[in-house]
Amino acid sequence: MKHLVAPSILSANFAYLGDAIQLINDSEADWIHVDVMDGRFVPNITLGPPILTSIRPLTKKTLDVHLMIVEPEKFIDEFKKAGADILSVHIEACPHLHRVVQAIKETGMKAGVAINPHTNINQLEDILPDIDVVCMMSVNPGWGGQKFIPGTINRIKKLKALIKQTNSKALIEIDGGVTMENAHNILKAGADVLIAGNTVFKSTNPKETIASLKHLDVNTIYV
Ligand code: DX5
Ligand code: ZN
Repeated sequence: MKHLVAPSILSANFAYLGDAIQLINDSEADWIHVDVMDGRFVPNITLGPPILTSIRPLTKKTLDVHLMIVEPEKFIDEFKKAGADILSVHIEACPHLHRVVQAIKETGMKAGVAINPHTNINQLEDILPDIDVVCMMSVNPGWGGQKFIPGTINRIKKLKALIKQTNSKALIEIDGGVTMENAHNILKAGADVLIAGNTVFKSTNPKETIASLKHLDVNTIYV
């Protein structure tokens, strides 16, 4: 499968969010990544269902919503109503992960599980057959524009093997510090979806940057 690109609107200028969505619409992006933070699971607050509700009519792209909140099960229906297509919850925030994943799927949304950089990949083993996406954090969640944690590359390889072993169809999305420099290695390790915030929105030509991320070829050897 050709990899997917998901610009993260956290790095866009929120005063001109509609323009950012339009830019993504006109680009080769596949998904739009939306970061929801509650100031409890992570030490930052971003946006919630009302903003998603405003974005939804502006785009046909898949809205990939990443919940960095405690007790995400309380908000599943609200995010469905607001227009999320994929809803990811953190494994670290869910003592009853299986129940939460089933509840997400019952609404018709795709279910994702996000995992922090320190959490052992093997903890995903029993949930993998039930989910559509693993959102693998390659920074500690909380802010855009952080530096990619190099150990993520090995974690992607391990996760890819675990996905095969469990006959899961889950896609691996990589979230945090993805750049034009490291994206090729990330794909080579087995990632399916590149999330990019700063790399896209702080570049001089975001649309071209999205195209460059999309056109990377995992089989090309760059020197
Ligand atoms: C980090 C968020 C990321 C963030 C990525 O907590 O989950 O989605 O927006 O931004 P960059 O690509 O700038 O690291
Ligand atoms: Zn995210």
